[in-house]
Amino acid sequence: MQLAAEEIQQNWLRLMGFINDHISEPRKTKLIEFYEKYIERLILMPAAHKKEYHNAFPGGYVDHVNRVITCALHLHELWAKMGADTTTYTKEELVFSALNHDLGKMGDEEHEAYIPQDDKWRKEKLGEDYKFNDRLAFASVPDRSLFLLQSHSIQYTFNEMITIQTHDGLYDEANKKYLMTYMPELKPRTSLPYIIHQADLMAARIEFETEWLPKFQGNLETPKKSFTLESKKSAPQTSAAKSKALGSLKNEGLKNLLDNL
Ligand SMILES: [Fe+2]
Repeated sequence: MQLAAEEIQQNWLRLMGFINDHISEPRKTKLIEFYEKYIERLILMPAAHKKEYHNAFPGGYVDHVNRVITCALHLHELWAKMGADTTTYTKEELVFSALNHDLGKMGDEEHEAYIPQDDKWRKEKLGEDYKFNDRLAFASVPDRSLFLLQSHSIQYTFNEMITIQTHDGLYDEANKKYLMTYMPELKPRTSLPYIIHQADLMAARIEFETEWLPKFQGNLETPKKSFTLESKKSAPQTSAAKSKALGSLKNEGLKNLLDNL
């Protein structure tokens, strides 16, 4: 699957829009500075290294994060409607957690976590378009997400820490201590971790359906999109819009990369 250059640019603007609309100062400025500092890494990053996983294509990471934030905002309404106590967390905590839940996938300050696969056999036989960068010291994605935030002086609340840490739910055994306890006093005091886990699960499932179900139906050339994010409905598709999007980028190398998509 491939995103057009204008979709990648539009997704980035949408991501910045979430920060502007939902995060308060001083974190808003710090987050914008952080995201702008690493724009060239983040804007083209895949959400996974293996093409069978969700959104493993250029721009897949931001596309995924936007979908998780959108799902989280909708799920927040649903949980409230169904009687959950949504006063135990703030909407800012909800958006902040969704925004940064997978941040550790970018690697550290110097090293990208995913780099293009140079092993032809693994690329062709195993579908690995990317590989993990072995120059990067190992840390789990949630641990690295939190480390990146704190090392850039972006503070997070207790709710956000637990939520980012447990966003994979019980798919990550390390989360059992938070999510598999039968002692009432040890259970999370807010539903936020469950909402973000659901949002992540929903987004990844939709990404799978969008990319893979058309292939199973034999429609390999023109994958059918089973959903449309609001931003994509209004995403400009004309070449004029594309040159406008590219024109707003300062870096020539990045412009060329996007122009060739
Ligand atoms: Fe995710």
